[in-house]
Amino acid sequence: MDRLAIIGGRPLFGEIAISGAKNSALKVMAASLLTDETLTITNVPRLADVDMLLKLLERHGVEAAFEGSRLELTAAAITSTEAPYDLVRKMRASFNVLGPLVAREGKARVSLPGGCAIGARPVDLHLKALSAMGASIDLDEGYVVAEAKNGLHGAKIDFPFVSVGATEHAMLAATLARGRTVLANAACEPEIGDLADCLVAMGARIEGAGSSTIEIEGVDRLRGAHHEVLPDRIETGAYAMAAGVAGGELLLRNGRLDLLGAAVGALEEAGLSIAEAEGGIRVKRACDRCRAVNIVTQPFPGFPTDLQAQFMALMATAEGASQIKETIFENRFMHAPELARMGASISVDGQTATVRGVKRLKGAPVMATDLRASMSLVLAGLGAEGQTIINRVYHLDRGFERLEEKLQACGALIERVSG
Ligand code: EPZ
Repeated sequence: MDRLAIIGGRPLFGEIAISGAKNSALKVMAASLLTDETLTITNVPRLADVDMLLKLLERHGVEAAFEGSRLELTAAAITSTEAPYDLVRKMRASFNVLGPLVAREGKARVSLPGGCAIGARPVDLHLKALSAMGASIDLDEGYVVAEAKNGLHGAKIDFPFVSVGATEHAMLAATLARGRTVLANAACEPEIGDLADCLVAMGARIEGAGSSTIEIEGVDRLRGAHHEVLPDRIETGAYAMAAGVAGGELLLRNGRLDLLGAAVGALEEAGLSIAEAEGGIRVKRACDRCRAVNIVTQPFPGFPTDLQAQFMALMATAEGASQIKETIFENRFMHAPELARMGASISVDGQTATVRGVKRLKGAPVMATDLRASMSLVLAGLGAEGQTIINRVYHLDRGFERLEEKLQACGALIERVSG
């Protein structure tokens, strides 16, 4: 199994090109199931998760051509409406094929994803939305069997709390439903707007995406289109934090401040200067040592849960004590004990972690359980004294495109060790 070896202590100077957003690309890819024409998606990151969804789409009959970051998907005919356990279990976003399959074919059998390292992550809201649109939902040996023989119909769906995945899923399905669907308390994450833009280019009628009420007027059919995926806000935030941990100055090419929400204020308060520049975002550590800042993870535009682990790495060497509260997932502090192995002082009490900044972390062999937690260890390693070895690199390969290459180009001593 591959590992990453990092020798810390070198400031980062240079330019990092931000890739297309993984969490947007995955949902946009699922939209290809809604039309028999070709959906061309550009700025698609080459990531393990993208390959996994591609495999699943191909099982459903989608023909794919992937060149560089341009992906062409054609679902001329759906050859199977079943999504097997093996493919859904490894990546939860695969579950989002359910709605499009039911909307187009009137039925689907999709494995339930099961729990994951950061929390139980049920899909009850996804199923409630489809059921409100007229699908019958049954469970059979771990599979969701959904049917809408006469097609889906519009519905008023009031989400009890904000769910990115359920909002996207309902929006995908509603595009081909009869009549009007209203999604209340919808998620406002930038990926929702990006998916809506793609669907509208395909002929869908959607209003309000990006706000908490989304209205979708179903149409009879969708057509092929071209869509460019928006830049990855989590990758942007993570590299901005890398400059905070290691010091230096980076131009994050294609990065957009408006996608970062409350993370911008938190980074500024911590002592980073971060501003729009020609071609992206310029970020630099404006002081010798960052300052402690309290954060609470919230739906967009609040501080994103997907940057919480990386922010903890930044706070590990900040001056003072910070409190980090995680409100989205119930088990998203698995990186804390690993950071502690590097000398961080972190105590976790329920959903709140208190981080008392130390002057310097020390390199150590560490291991992470999920994508963003792994990235927090990379950041910690970049700032630490000596060598850090990060095991289970496959987590990083799921969500950070060409990570070592991008960091090496800015002066980091980081390399992949095979075996
Ligand atoms: C998306 O997950 C992202 N994944 C996550 O990124 C991200 O952390 C999350 O949104 C929040 O921003 C993808 O887009 C592929 P939710 P999603 O539904 O849609 C609960 C990463 O590292 N819930 O907004 O699954 C759920 O358990 C990943 O890239 C229900 O209870 O998140 C969680 O506590 C990790 N029932 C909360 O809602 C449901 O039916 C918010 O989850 C659905 C969700």
